[in-house]
Amino acid sequence: MTTNIKQQAGIAAANLVQNGMGVGLGTGSTVFFTLERLAERQKTEGLKFFGVSTSFSTTLLCRKMGIELKDSGSVSHLDLAIDGTDEIDPNLNLIKGRGAAHLLEKIVASLADKFVIVADSGKKVQNLGEKFPLPLEILPAALGLVEARIKSLGGSMEVRTAGACKDGPTISDSGNIIADAKLGLIKEPEILCKELDSIPGLVGHGLFAGLAKEAFIAGEAGVEHISP
Ligand code: A5P
Repeated sequence: MTTNIKQQAGIAAANLVQNGMGVGLGTGSTVFFTLERLAERQKTEGLKFFGVSTSFSTTLLCRKMGIELKDSGSVSHLDLAIDGTDEIDPNLNLIKGRGAAHLLEKIVASLADKFVIVADSGKKVQNLGEKFPLPLEILPAALGLVEARIKSLGGSMEVRTAGACKDGPTISDSGNIIADAKLGLIKEPEILCKELDSIPGLVGHGLFAGLAKEAFIAGEAGVEHISP
């Protein structure tokens, strides 16, 4: 998938931002192009808005590009949030969290009147879980409990390792442990969401059911705008 394709999706969503808006700014390589376009619109059109970042990674990009940010804890409403995804089903349910930002991404998406997805067509699936396990964010004290509950749901769970940069687990921007759960194909996302939401110490998961209202999905033939 070429960078240019992600760029088309990222730019399409950036053009939804209007003067005076508060805008949630997602994380990842597609949203990068949204940020770039927003910074350009600030310079060429005098566009005025503030962003709320979903990760330290996005915060650093916004600082570099001159995009004004407010802390998510200081706002109670946003007009719009724009974010990428790892999988998207025909009803715009999502699996997110490859970049471990899914907890803050869900908080920011939930603040917004409209949550819009930007992605390349490789992210489309018939059923969530086809390509990716489900990212979890777990309070360290709840690791054993969460693993037991995932097993009782018929799944399995692995703590995500940090890889080349650090020994041990991936730690989120909020200081929690990131794990990935294999739960097979997710045919009823709303029901699984409720099950996961009821596990104490599971502070976040990357299943976004019913949150996205619109998507820009770019492929070789151009940008598909889905608005169910
Ligand atoms: C971050 O944790 C994820 O939820 C990203 O939003 C997702 O991985 C999309 O990233 P790309 O646009 O880089 O594919």
